[in-house]
Amino acid sequence: MSEPTLEQVEQLVAAARAAREDAYAPYSRFPVGAAVLAGRRIFIGANVENASYPLGVCAERNAVAAAVTAGERRVDAVAVVAGDRDVTPPCGGCRQVLNEFGPEMLVISESPVGIRKTWRLSELLPDAFGPLSLP
Ligand code: THU
Repeated sequence: MSEPTLEQVEQLVAAARAAREDAYAPYSRFPVGAAVLAGRRIFIGANVENASYPLGVCAERNAVAAAVTAGERRVDAVAVVAGDRDVTPPCGGCRQVLNEFGPEMLVISESPVGIRKTWRLSELLPDAFGPLSLP
């Protein structure tokens, strides 16, 4: 894993903030933007909801899908921008999906007013089930 620079972290958060503008969240009215850093490139995603509610997809998962579809297999960091004041940590399902591509990646979440929190994914998903758990 390569550790993101401070500049890359700022670019990642800015990309997530911009991606949030394109979220499709008419049901929850909770737009989320995400960006992942993979192979020194940034891939974005936003949550895309559906009238059939369970079919909605989280922002982080859409960003991971974009990176993987572009051929990347390792994610070094993810940024999330959502909410109003408080920071929004990735949901449990997204933690599991992120774990597949970088158990030690940095997770940065920023609220629209600029409150930021940073974790390692392994802090948010300890003792994760992952590729190495399979025989
Ligand atoms: N959501 C995300 O996009 N990422 C998360 O980590 C938390 C939840 C979305 C799903 C749904 O569209 C809306 O936020 C409200 O749950």
